[in-house]
Amino acid sequence: MIVTLVMALTADGKIGKDPDHFPDWTGKEDKKLFAAISKKAGAVIMGSKTFDTFGKPLPHRKNIILTRNRDRKSKWPNLHYTDKDPETILKELEAEGYSEVVLAGGAWVNTLFAQANLIDNIIVTISPKIFGTGLSLFTEAVYMDLELKSMDRIGQNLVCLKYEVKK
Ligand SMILES: NC(=O)c1ccc[n+]([C@@H]2O[C@H](COP(=O)([O-])OP(=O)(O)OC[C@H]3O[C@@H](n4cnc5c(N)ncnc54)[C@H](OP(=O)(O)O)[C@@H]3O)[C@@H](O)[C@H]2O)c1
Repeated sequence: MIVTLVMALTADGKIGKDPDHFPDWTGKEDKKLFAAISKKAGAVIMGSKTFDTFGKPLPHRKNIILTRNRDRKSKWPNLHYTDKDPETILKELEAEGYSEVVLAGGAWVNTLFAQANLIDNIIVTISPKIFGTGLSLFTEAVYMDLELKSMDRIGQNLVCLKYEVKK
């Protein structure tokens, strides 16, 4: 199972101003890129805070939402809440026939997968914004050695960096 973290960053390395920040600042090229990568994978994993910023599943993909709140029940066939650990989630996806999954934030859930050493690729876009304060890619100390695979200007004002995590 290949896990690709796909995230939009500001030029000062933030993913959002606070946990409730609706991600409306990343622009259309970023959204198009995220849609293409995640549709190709077929499955997306994210935390409940990230999901709550938009509140409905991403279409044409399996949406797995991490939450410890057992009262949350899905109203959609392609959205599943879980409190399973990252390894189990990936094993179950593999058993269902998936070979790739997009990890789509936020910082808490990124950290869970990073601490378990389960991230294989990192794709970041860098938007022409500065927040000054806010959330980073991770919430705690994590260490990864990366190899830069590509660096593209994908819009008038947007850069995309693709890294492989050296393991
Ligand atoms: N720029 C980007 O590309 C991008 C992408 C994604 C998100 N974001 C931003 O990131 C922010 C949200 O991120 P966040 O770090 O605050 O939250 P998050 O990672 O999206 O979600 C955190 C939630 O995940 C659940 N969770 C955490 N650990 C868990 C575990 N071990 N088992 C089960 N569930 C677990 C908990 O949900 P419960 O409280 O329900 O139990 C926790 O409150 C927003 O501002 C959003 O816009 C930005």
